[in-house]
Amino acid sequence: MEKLTMDKIVAYCKQYGFVYQGSEIYGGLANTWDYGPLGSRLKNNIKDAWRKRFIQENKNSYEIDADILMHPRVWEASGHTTSFSDPLIDCKGCKSRYRADKLIEDNTDEINPDTLTDQEMIDYIREHHYKCPKCGKSDFTDIRQFNLMFETHRGVIKDDMGGLVYLRPETAQGEFVNFLNVQRTMRAKIPFGIGQIGKAFRNEITPGNFTFRTIEFEQMEHQLFCKEGTDSGNYRFYKEYAFEFLKDLGMNTDKLRYKDHEKLAHYAKEACDIEYLFPMGWGELWGTHNRTNYDLSRHQEYSGVSQMYLDPEDNSKYVPYVVESSVGCDRLTLAILCDSYDEEVLEDGSTREVMRFIPALAPYKVAVLPLVKKYHAEFASELKEKLSKYFMCSYDETGSIGKRYRRQDAVGTPFCITIDDETINHGMVTVRDRDTMEQIILPLEEVEQYILDKIKF
Ligand code: GAP
Repeated sequence: MEKLTMDKIVAYCKQYGFVYQGSEIYGGLANTWDYGPLGSRLKNNIKDAWRKRFIQENKNSYEIDADILMHPRVWEASGHTTSFSDPLIDCKGCKSRYRADKLIEDNTDEINPDTLTDQEMIDYIREHHYKCPKCGKSDFTDIRQFNLMFETHRGVIKDDMGGLVYLRPETAQGEFVNFLNVQRTMRAKIPFGIGQIGKAFRNEITPGNFTFRTIEFEQMEHQLFCKEGTDSGNYRFYKEYAFEFLKDLGMNTDKLRYKDHEKLAHYAKEACDIEYLFPMGWGELWGTHNRTNYDLSRHQEYSGVSQMYLDPEDNSKYVPYVVESSVGCDRLTLAILCDSYDEEVLEDGSTREVMRFIPALAPYKVAVLPLVKKYHAEFASELKEKLSKYFMCSYDETGSIGKRYRRQDAVGTPFCITIDDETINHGMVTVRDRDTMEQIILPLEEVEQYILDKIKF
């Protein structure tokens, strides 16, 4: 298979109904993307898998659904209003804007920009005569810190600064400010976790690479509240827990790697990313952070409400430490799309395009295909209706059976059920496996359970 490019994935996603350009009929709004029927199913299946692993199967874990809009003091306490910024430089020639750290990252592997101060970064860019990717000129402004917070206003008077609110840049703060609510109402004992899936917004300087970096995106975040001293062990546990989860989602481990942070954020004691080899290169997929008791201490200080936990084990009182596990749902969906795409050369020399999603993630679990429309369509559509009570089914009666198989391969449907005379006369159906292309014959009454067993996560 030729190297997969991002352009190819973008076109493929559009062609098969995974992802479309946002507001396309108006010429599109840059860096906004709408999930189509197949993409929404895929993304929802990824969320379900995360929810199962991080909430349902995870000891003492609770899910919440906090509002996007939060009290502005939350963002003062978290440090976002003052320091959630990226190093911005402008090209003096064409006025294009860049993130200084990304410009270095895209040009060299020799140095990690995370370890440099702003002054060191601009000195490096100038010493190495980096050119503007757009106009080729080597003349950049000094670095300014650009705050990524997305502002909006509430209330009827737009210019009333009292109405200034922010669209949350991470879901995590919803978990922190609800720590006590969840602890008390669930009678939770430390260690326990709070997770949520939800939208976040960042005014990114350089959004791009399809859904890799956008201004509106979804996160799946989980915070483990634990006692100081157990934090590093829990941090190591969650680093591995995330990696195992990605493996179980069927991801190719050659394209996954850990990358420890060299320069730690002011609140973090330990931090590590899991990176994925996207078509444009290695990129951050998942972050695990030991956030210490920074967040809860700051909320205690700014809200004036004690965030102390009384430990029934030893009657000690403390502000808990937090281990965070955070992944972008859109970025993970993109990684799964790239990872699953395959072109297989068949014995007859033809090539088939296959999305090799694990069955649990596949948008459609089965496609029901009547062999001959005239004779088998009625039975097939009844079966499709029956199976749809248990999982997502597709139905296709147009074109040759070979072409219909190919269409299902292209969207990753793991099983095709063909209805023919054997079904009508003897109650037997043919089930074709997407990956092996092998076919088995099953009694009609066993089909539902056969598929249910295969799609478990
Ligand atoms: N609460 C911690 C936090 O938000 P982060 O590393 O800034 O940490 C976590 O974000 C994850 O969210 C990233 O690993 C990435 O998968 C995703 N993410 C961050 N910014 C994004 C963006 N602009 N577009 C899409 N996904 C993004």
